[in-house]
Amino acid sequence: MTANALVEQFRNNGFAVARRHVDPDLLSALEHEARELISRFADGYRSDDFWCYEGPGRPLPILYRIHNLEKQGMPRIRELFSGGVLEGLASRFLGRLGRSTVCAMVVKTNGGAGVPWHRDRADVPQGTALNLSVYLDPSDASNGCFEAVPGSHRLLDDADVELARQRGPRVLVSANPGDVLIHDVRLVHGSGDNTGGVERRSIITEFAVVASGGSA
Ligand code: NI
Repeated sequence: MTANALVEQFRNNGFAVARRHVDPDLLSALEHEARELISRFADGYRSDDFWCYEGPGRPLPILYRIHNLEKQGMPRIRELFSGGVLEGLASRFLGRLGRSTVCAMVVKTNGGAGVPWHRDRADVPQGTALNLSVYLDPSDASNGCFEAVPGSHRLLDDADVELARQRGPRVLVSANPGDVLIHDVRLVHGSGDNTGGVERRSIITEFAVVASGGSA
């Protein structure tokens, strides 16, 4: 699919996948840093940025998100946040310069719970803020891949998420390592449980348009 067709798809559906956008060397470096951070948690490290929950029958808390990911001392992840390979991609989908605002890693271990349907936010106009997810692992229905209602980024700010989900259609989006999922923050989306697939890790960075005309 051409770059323009992908942008067109994003505008219509509220999401699109840029296949193999991250080259293997960078992907391997990011995966290594992700693994380091997850091991840190497994070794007992705790902070407000490491979000976890108690699983029934699980002796240890289950990590599901590392917030402020760019501040965890991992250089390649920090580069990704501060103008690396995602910035150009984000600007192309925004149609103007975008700047990164938030970075996190989402982890869904084998047996991990899905994410309830939601919109990341609806306090900004359509097409002005988006999330880019760099996949570190293969993701499909078996490990709770991303699901969305195409076109739901156009719904009103106060639209009922549950109603939108029920009306559908709901689309499952599978991805491979190195793929980047781009979605409007207004999109209605969620994901299922990881019911026995491989661990699913992705690095998510929000980009928003840079306000113009501000005073110096
Ligand atoms: Ni979300």
